[in-house]
Amino acid sequence: MSNLDWHPVSADDTRSLRSVFGTFMTGVTIVTAWDAQGTPRGFTANSFTSVSLSPALVLVCIARSAGSLPVFSEATDFAINILGDWQRDLSTTFAGRGVDKFAGVELLESEPSAPCLADSLSVLRCTRHSLVEAGDHVILIGEVQRYRSSLGSPLGYFRGSYVDFAEGAKAIQVERGSALKVGCLIAQGNGLVLVREPGCAHWSIPEVFWHSGVSQKAVIEDVFRRVGLSGQVSFIYSMFEEAGDDFTRLIFRADAAAGAPAARSGEREVRVFAADETPWLLVKGEYTVSMIQRFFTEREADAFGIYCDTADGGRIAGIAGKPVHWLDWKH
Ligand SMILES: Cc1cc2nc3c(=O)[nH]c(=O)nc-3n(C[C@H](O)[C@H](O)[C@H](O)COP(=O)(O)O)c2cc1C
Repeated sequence: MSNLDWHPVSADDTRSLRSVFGTFMTGVTIVTAWDAQGTPRGFTANSFTSVSLSPALVLVCIARSAGSLPVFSEATDFAINILGDWQRDLSTTFAGRGVDKFAGVELLESEPSAPCLADSLSVLRCTRHSLVEAGDHVILIGEVQRYRSSLGSPLGYFRGSYVDFAEGAKAIQVERGSALKVGCLIAQGNGLVLVREPGCAHWSIPEVFWHSGVSQKAVIEDVFRRVGLSGQVSFIYSMFEEAGDDFTRLIFRADAAAGAPAARSGEREVRVFAADETPWLLVKGEYTVSMIQRFFTEREADAFGIYCDTADGGRIAGIAGKPVHWLDWKH
């Protein structure tokens, strides 16, 4: 279709109008509720819109043809799970029919009135406000009762395909002049956890942008979530800016609990590298290479230091002893 021609709307050809609607880029949600039998039900929806702040109203449009329309027409409570870019597979599953969409999906126990998907970017727990008939869809308007939100890039949808916002999110951060990335050198056993983003030739340490107003604890949790591990940070390990980067990196030393790492996004690779695999040759950036080399040397010697970039080429302050919990610290 030419972008200059006008086209009359035709009931016989809804496809081309649908593709024009698809030029409006959206996020992606999964709308969920319990049915009368107590079974969780849900479907992928990008028709979500915030409507009003006071009262807190949102809407989502449900196709009359949707198998779960009767459930959502009757449910007094439902949840809108706003997806992050690591939940692409979940979006595809919930856009399907007749499968057990909730198999293997973790739900938040803290919210029993609607099945809320753990690990979503945000969750809005709603009560039904009203239902409005609108052509081949029904508009479900909900009043938000509780909400929660975490860090991460949203899952986007444009012209029938998912959109990766990770680079865009970086651009926004840089524009706002708050470009700090927090990364973790996560040790597991004798190895180091590295990630490789889709389409990237090199590996890197797991890291996320630190948005203003977000606690250190939350940002560290987000780094761990990216690699599907849990663990503890012990101390700030390094702070530097690679040539050509428009952000600073703040790196923590961390140890992961046992368990296989797993990427949050279906396409991101996560692996534990041993020293004899020389993982510092697989990463990019002069500082990152030497930091990973230093990590393995120090781990071997069980003596760590903190690096700070200085005008004369950088300084390392040695740490005496192992980090202890602050309650056990002898003042
Ligand atoms: C990205 C995306 C967005 C969608 N948005 C909507 C929507 O807003 N409303 C809707 O009724 N269906 C939407 N769908 C289609 C439903 O997810 C799909 O029809 C699903 O099978 C409905 O599940 P159900 O039949 O179990 O109710 C969307 C699908 C995708 C992939």
